[in-house]
Amino acid sequence: MIKKLRILTLIAASISSYSFAADAASNWKDQCAKCHGDDGKGETKMGRKLGITDLTDPKIQAKFSDEQAFKAMKSGLTDSSGKTSMKAIENISDDEMKALIPFVRALIK
Ligand code: HEC
Repeated sequence: MIKKLRILTLIAASISSYSFAADAASNWKDQCAKCHGDDGKGETKMGRKLGITDLTDPKIQAKFSDEQAFKAMKSGLTDSSGKTSMKAIENISDDEMKALIPFVRALIK
């Protein structure tokens, strides 16, 4: 019985660490695409509502540093009237956020 429990614990641990370390592409799809779009252009319902800029445009990408991109994910963003525009991302780790930065840079067309 104890042995069986141990095995179950091991299986549970490996499943949770697997979903924890999702790669940047699937994190983008799960956490970012509903606003920014699969391709980063922001042509989604949410994107239009929030006035999202086109992340495939190098001029837009030049406007924020990697640190700012991280901060946007970690703490969220507010618009000029102080309203939350991009919510802080809560479901992924700091490392996963860092891994999303090169992914975002690679959206440039
Ligand atoms: C609730 C909608 C929403 C979600 C979800 C979202 N964003 Fe944003 N994001 C915005 C808005 C709104 C802005 C500000 C307008 C703009 O710059 O396009 C923004 C801006 C950004 C910027 C530019 C930061 C800056 O300082 O100019 C980056 C980079 C970014 N988002 C990356 C991401 C990543 C990566 C994810 C997923 C982990 C994500 N966003 C999820 C709405 C969202």
